Amino acid sequence: MAKVLVADDNKSVREACQVHLSREGHLVRVAEGESAAIALVDGEQFDVVVVDLWMERPESGMHVLEHIKRQPALLTEVIILTAYGTMPNLARALELGAYSYVPKNVPDVDEYSVIAAKVAEAAAQKARRGILHDMANVLMGFGAIELFPDQTSLSAEQRAFLTRVKHSVVAAQELCRMATTQLRSGTPQLRELASADLAEQVHALSAGIAQMKGVRLATSVSANLPSVLVHEAMAARILVNLVVNAIDASLPGMTVEIGATECSGNVLFAVKDTGTGMSDEVLAHLWEPGFTTKSRDSGRLGGSGIGLHTAREMARQMNGDIEVDSQAGEGSTFVLRVPVDRDDSTA
Ligand SMILES: Nc1ncnc2c1ncn2[C@@H]1O[C@H](COP(=O)(O)OP(=O)(O)OP(=O)(O)O)[C@@H](O)[C@H]1O
Ligand SMILES: [Mg+2]
Repeated sequence: MAKVLVADDNKSVREACQVHLSREGHLVRVAEGESAAIALVDGEQFDVVVVDLWMERPESGMHVLEHIKRQPALLTEVIILTAYGTMPNLARALELGAYSYVPKNVPDVDEYSVIAAKVAEAAAQKARRGILHDMANVLMGFGAIELFPDQTSLSAEQRAFLTRVKHSVVAAQELCRMATTQLRSGTPQLRELASADLAEQVHALSAGIAQMKGVRLATSVSANLPSVLVHEAMAARILVNLVVNAIDASLPGMTVEIGATECSGNVLFAVKDTGTGMSDEVLAHLWEPGFTTKSRDSGRLGGSGIGLHTAREMARQMNGDIEVDSQAGEGSTFVLRVPVDRDDSTA
């Protein structure tokens, strides 16, 4: 059940929306124009606002949208209603953060069913953003690690442990930020990143997991590697996924190697294990979303099978790719290829 505001100057549209959305279990309020909608939004919290573009003024819906998006803490999702065939401001509405739009009076389309479906999607999206937002808050609590005394009283091992926790917290915060901004996905901003720093970061993020499993982690990068052009958090996520998979496939005492080398305009980040390896059957389905051979057991979460699928998608968004070489019983090597930053003077 979501709390929905429907703003439309047409009484029959308001009434039809109210009937349809209430039937779906939503709590519905209505407004007959821009100022009434804004007054209601300021007075109470709505999950979703469905607003007609043209009410008192041709841009009324945009004003309501802008008003809502100026208050990010509201998390309210906005769906714009607009006459069929006249959507001049659609791109701008989406840019401003509208969740979606619904054209009115499209022949042979029941627009109220479309509105109901979009309201349900938007409410789910709002809930996800809320969870992310709260997760970011929880993570902020970990920021207190920074306040830890100069650490001179700690042993080297304790200091290394603390540094690792810090790295993980920063990475998790970055993930929350990414997820929040990319819920309405855009093209990722690519930036120059030192290849050795990326390898180092991935090592730090995976060290705790390796330690728990009793697997050794060894990182070696070629000297004088050029920088790469990547989205830092994405690149780190991809490699951490590969390393976690490699650790999963290994037995205690085995070593997982993270390596980086340059090859014709690219840097190849390799993650190599000597674990289970994969059969042709597994290799055939490897990149499918939801494919996993990891079951829920002994308190482990099991696999969701989205790791590699997402990793490859992200690699391609950064003009790179992932390839695999594996022998059943002998181990696997996954290679992330990403382009060298052409402006890098050391290249
Ligand atoms: N290094 C590896 N060695 C052996 N098998 C692997 C390796 N990496 C991936 N796999 C196989 O590919 C499957 C899919 O991997 P993927 O990362 O997509 O999902 P997952 O690890 O099962 O779940 P999660 O969503 O938690 O990552 C794994 O379940 C496993 O069978
Ligand atoms: Mg995985």
